[in-house]
Amino acid sequence: MTTEYQPLVAQSDNKKWVVGAAACAAGFVAMMGLLSLDSNNTVQLYAVRAAQSVRAAPAVTASQRQFVAAVQSGKVSKVDLAVAADGSMVLQSADGQQVPVSLAGPSQNLWAPVLLMGSALVAVGLAVKHFFAPASAPARSVAMFSATGTATPTRTWGPASGKKYKGVAPIICPSLLAADLANLAADSKRVMDAGADVLHVDVMDGHFVPNLSWGAPVIKCLRQHSDAFFDTHLMVSNPEDFIAPMADAGVDQFTFHIEAAKDVNQLIKDIKAAGMKVGISIKPKTPVEWVFPYMEDIDLILIMTVEPGFGGQSFMEDMMPKVQTLREKFPDAEIQVDGGLSPATIDAAAKAGANAIVAGSATFVEDAKGAIDALRASVEEYCTGPGEE
Ligand code: DX5
Ligand code: ZN
Repeated sequence: MTTEYQPLVAQSDNKKWVVGAAACAAGFVAMMGLLSLDSNNTVQLYAVRAAQSVRAAPAVTASQRQFVAAVQSGKVSKVDLAVAADGSMVLQSADGQQVPVSLAGPSQNLWAPVLLMGSALVAVGLAVKHFFAPASAPARSVAMFSATGTATPTRTWGPASGKKYKGVAPIICPSLLAADLANLAADSKRVMDAGADVLHVDVMDGHFVPNLSWGAPVIKCLRQHSDAFFDTHLMVSNPEDFIAPMADAGVDQFTFHIEAAKDVNQLIKDIKAAGMKVGISIKPKTPVEWVFPYMEDIDLILIMTVEPGFGGQSFMEDMMPKVQTLREKFPDAEIQVDGGLSPATIDAAAKAGANAIVAGSATFVEDAKGAIDALRASVEEYCTGPGEE
């Protein structure tokens, strides 16, 4: 399946390299520091190399040769570099014996141990990266949000009235996007009191859609003020990164966009494992057939009837064939429509077979009860039947 959105390079992989490089750099600095602390040994190393380099020189005297041999055998405990009376560099013993030396040879020879040391440090850095750096994106999410990994299953998807329906029921889902965003708690209560069944919570990341709404911290706060079922619509890239924080925030249903999913089956599994119901949403240009393989494994299919990103857009009636196809093929499916739904457009959606109706601008109105009742009445008339108390 091709997707419109390219997966981002996992940030945790970049982090691994940063940790590895930092470990290398720190190790290198530490080793150089140790070497410079032990400068006497460094000078001695130069001295021994210098002694080796002059051993074959014809100008060296017999006593100088003895001195060099003594350095090499370790019998001379301290040798040093010094400047002779004529200004040349010499190797000098504690008792004042000198042999001429050249630093060019010995200092070049030092590259071999330095390269060896560097390679060893790179190996140590890679080992640190492999064993101690964060392993994967989901692990990062869990760490960042201290998620419990489970949502409390006290709230249920269903008619708030308690009415029983033979098949699927009408579920009216006011979209919080149209609420007074500075008074989410009060506005949520207002629509629930007006007869809404669940709250539709739109999460937008400014990347999958060109708008930002809110994230898990806001939902978590709202959870403290509302017992409503949170029907959460994630218009986000990398939906897998949101599973743990949304479960932790108290989300009940996690609906992701198939266009943003890298591994749909894995997402479904992980969302369920986190204790949430699963929905899949498709944008207007996405063929409905894309969801067929997953219908048995999910709790809801959301057909977008506007391009996702903003409330208050016009209802796209030409999406209704998708709804109709789904209803014919999956009579018991929870089929949700979202975007531009109102008492003026609901009949088309209900006739096509939609039973779960998202409506933002049409429900956050003065007569919220009137609007919600009108939406439900249409679904009962054309889709679900009347139901019984
Ligand atoms: C759009 C959102 C909708 C939106 C609907 O991207 O997913 O839930 O709030 O708003 P209305 O009902 O005003 O079109
Ligand atoms: Zn929505």
